[in-house]
Amino acid sequence: MSATIIDGKAAAAALRERIRLQTEGFVARAGRKPGLAVVLVGEDPASSVYVRSKGKATIAAGMASFEHKLPIDVSQDELIALVDSLNADEAVDGILVQLPLPKHIDEQAVTTRIDPDKDVDGFHPVNAGRLATGLNGFVPCTPYGCIMLLKEQLGDLTGLDAVVIGRSNIVGKPMAQLLLKESCTVTVAHSRTRDLASVVHRADIVVAAVGVPHMVKGEWIKPGATVIDVGINRTEDGLVGDVDFAGAASVAGAITPVPGGVGPMTIAVLLRNTLISAHRRAG
Ligand code: GUN
Repeated sequence: MSATIIDGKAAAAALRERIRLQTEGFVARAGRKPGLAVVLVGEDPASSVYVRSKGKATIAAGMASFEHKLPIDVSQDELIALVDSLNADEAVDGILVQLPLPKHIDEQAVTTRIDPDKDVDGFHPVNAGRLATGLNGFVPCTPYGCIMLLKEQLGDLTGLDAVVIGRSNIVGKPMAQLLLKESCTVTVAHSRTRDLASVVHRADIVVAAVGVPHMVKGEWIKPGATVIDVGINRTEDGLVGDVDFAGAASVAGAITPVPGGVGPMTIAVLLRNTLISAHRRAG
């Protein structure tokens, strides 16, 4: 094994501590805490764990956490009415509706109902458009966390060849936009890409966000490349990433582990986005 293992847990802890200190400053000036509302529909075990972690981290950062747990059979109208009330609530700076939602609810109808200026997930099309056109908005937490890890590892990313595997609205597309903003040469690969191995092999930066365990093979990686594994796949062997970690770590320059890589950054960036929202709304 030759690659540096990128410690996302340590990077996230450092970011959360910076946010905590900045939150103290905000509270002293504004006379109120930044507030994050998290909405959970149903009792999916993984989602419940995420929501609990978000609530704990919000409070640890010195922010106010508003948790709304709704039954699995809540109607779309009731959920939208809750979003409307959170949009109007002055104490709420950020709103996150945990996904996935039950099948009878149209996710788009709910995420597009959130006020774009409280959309700390960055999922609203207005925020996707702002990111694509260089305006200030909210950037989805996971891709922003990846960029932070990359810059910490590599410094300036200008001119580097980056390959993003996956084209989801939540990770792949915003990741490509962020890498472009850092002046990388960006390729977005996906399930229909021909000869993925050779596409990946020319990359200085590989970001894997496909949701297929160990899909990216060690021999695809260019020696010395930096590999960011966004995959969190639950298998019989526990949590595994989208990258064959052992194979890739023997050729890469640096690589994120799963767990303990990208995952912890997501919540830290969510807190960052909530603090940014509080500052903007306080004027
Ligand atoms: N489900 C899994 N990850 C996320 C996330 O980052 N935001 C929301 N809203 N739901 C999720």
